[in-house]
Amino acid sequence: MERGLLLPPLSRATLPPLPVRLERLGDARPQVLAVLEGETDAIARQATFARLLWDVLPQLSWCGFYRRVGPCTLAVGPYQGSLGCLRIDFDRGVCGAAARTQRAQRVADVRQFPGHIACDDAARSELVLPVVTAGTLRAVLDLDSTFLDAFSEEEAALLTELVAACFHAPELVW
Ligand code: SME
Repeated sequence: MERGLLLPPLSRATLPPLPVRLERLGDARPQVLAVLEGETDAIARQATFARLLWDVLPQLSWCGFYRRVGPCTLAVGPYQGSLGCLRIDFDRGVCGAAARTQRAQRVADVRQFPGHIACDDAARSELVLPVVTAGTLRAVLDLDSTFLDAFSEEEAALLTELVAACFHAPELVW
């Protein structure tokens, strides 16, 4: 486990068929939970989660967290990929929409999303999942891909469940 996940290696910047992506997520789930077990620092968990997910889903071009640092402000947290924007207000972008509504945002074509923030011009689709504990928004998990429609409803559901399993622990220090 110290060397990473036990999954077949896949080339980055590829979009494998959906069944392959779903199988990888299923296989990765217990491994991710095992790596994070016992860690109570939320940023340590976020950093490790982002790094692990980076290897699970080869369609990712960006994978990481924006942390809530004010009533309506997010600041970038641990991530993998190209340079991300540093701050995002709740009224901007896909991340802001997820933070504001506390609802997952699955965007098949970011060019069709009014106000999308293009940190990377090559980004084409995006999935943002809120991290909410006891009704309080703590962060959002932001996933980007250079492929159109790279995140299915099934992946969104599995990832929502995984985020809950990894970040809803009451002992976590935020
Ligand atoms: N596209 C996001 C901004 C963050 S970057 O993609 C890393 C948005 O519209 O909120």
